[in-house]
Amino acid sequence: MDVRVVDHPLTQARLSTMRDARTDNAAFRAALQELTLMLIYEATRDADVAEEPIHTPVARTTGHRLANPPLLVPVLRAGLGMADQAHRLIPEARMGFVGLARDEETLQPTPYMESLPSDLSNVPVFVLDPMLATGGSMVHTIRILAERGADDVTVICTLAAPEGIDRLGRSGLPARVITASVDERLNESGFIVPGLGDAGDREYGPR
Ligand code: PRP
Repeated sequence: MDVRVVDHPLTQARLSTMRDARTDNAAFRAALQELTLMLIYEATRDADVAEEPIHTPVARTTGHRLANPPLLVPVLRAGLGMADQAHRLIPEARMGFVGLARDEETLQPTPYMESLPSDLSNVPVFVLDPMLATGGSMVHTIRILAERGADDVTVICTLAAPEGIDRLGRSGLPARVITASVDERLNESGFIVPGLGDAGDREYGPR
């Protein structure tokens, strides 16, 4: 499994704000938005670029743009807090949506929403979700994408557990992971340790 940990001082500072239990909902959302910009910046580092001639006020030169912009897929609820910022950096991107709620007892994801283009062949996909815990939600999401032909999926998450990364690797699905941290482990309730709690609750309040 290709995992890139973006351990820049600024990503670690935003992540620390998100981890801190004293951070309120508004400050948590702001830190998540800023961290998302940095993760998207890293995720597009190796993207193909197309050249085009442009005129500066002084001379002709060669300009660049993304040759094949990704489809952005926030996983609701928590991924919604990353969607606008990702779109701000890649305004030409299309956006699809997947809604999942993890059952707190069984830890299985229950799907409640899906709005995606039908053909994703030759379309890079960026899946946005703050947390990769057991990996159940992400495996479900990437399976839906692969059924539509996606074979180039980047998971963008603020935090990952080793268990989730292993599960994604064992699934054989085409994916790489960009994250600000791989934490220690999952606890018996399926929460990442030390983690940051429940990202959806910390963005939007408890359900
Ligand atoms: C959280 C999180 C991921 C999922 C991770 O969402 O945002 O989607 O759990 O857990 P997993 O890797 O064990 O599947 P949750 O289901 O709590 O819903 P929410 O985003 O609406 O809060």
